[in-house]
Amino acid sequence: MSLVLLIMIHTTFKLTVIAQHNLAPFGTATQSSLVDDVQGKPHFAIQPPISNAFNLAICSHTALSSKPAWWMFQFSFGSAYITEIKVYYRADFAYRMDGFKLYVTNTSTIPPEGYLCYEDPDPGLPNITQIIPCNQLGKYVIYYDTKGDETYGPLVELCYVAINGLCYIIGYSIFVFP
Ligand SMILES: *[C@@H]1O[C@H](CO)[C@@H](O)[C@H](O)[C@H]1NC(C)=O
Ligand SMILES: *[C@@H]1O[C@H](CO)[C@@H](O)[C@H](O)[C@H]1NC(C)=O
Repeated sequence: MSLVLLIMIHTTFKLTVIAQHNLAPFGTATQSSLVDDVQGKPHFAIQPPISNAFNLAICSHTALSSKPAWWMFQFSFGSAYITEIKVYYRADFAYRMDGFKLYVTNTSTIPPEGYLCYEDPDPGLPNITQIIPCNQLGKYVIYYDTKGDETYGPLVELCYVAINGLCYIIGYSIFVFP
């Protein structure tokens, strides 16, 4: 009995620690289009610096006039239980972020099919730093935009994305609480 209790306490502690983690380093990013072969790559958004400061060497950037525009993150280990997503968009370009949607999904289908965590409401421009709670188990995180800029259409310019959550460790629970 006391051994079982000990295991339970240990497991609870582990879960708490893992919950603090940004899982974005454990996956890959893609996007709807590229500006060129070197700059504005999708994975720049999951690498530091944690900032809205824009530069094509540190932020992702889709090509002009491609509709819809999206950025997609996929976990390399399958699924994760996500708790919160932080998005740092390009400074001073909130109008290009206008109308964005953020999804957690189990497929890479475009338009996204899954759970809509957040949709930027009308009217008004979004805050370029978004902290979006989204308690969902999923394989992909998709930033999706069909609106964006009046001249160039939707664009994705993400300088940093953190995906906070829990690794999918239900196996642990089954083992400890049969
Ligand atoms: C993904 O699939 C899992 C397992 O079927 C399910 O529990 C979860 O709710 C799904 N996530 C979304 C975002 O649809
Ligand atoms: C924008 O979001 C950030 C992060 O949540 C917050 O610190 C800041 O106060 C917000 N700015 C405005 C104008 O709401």
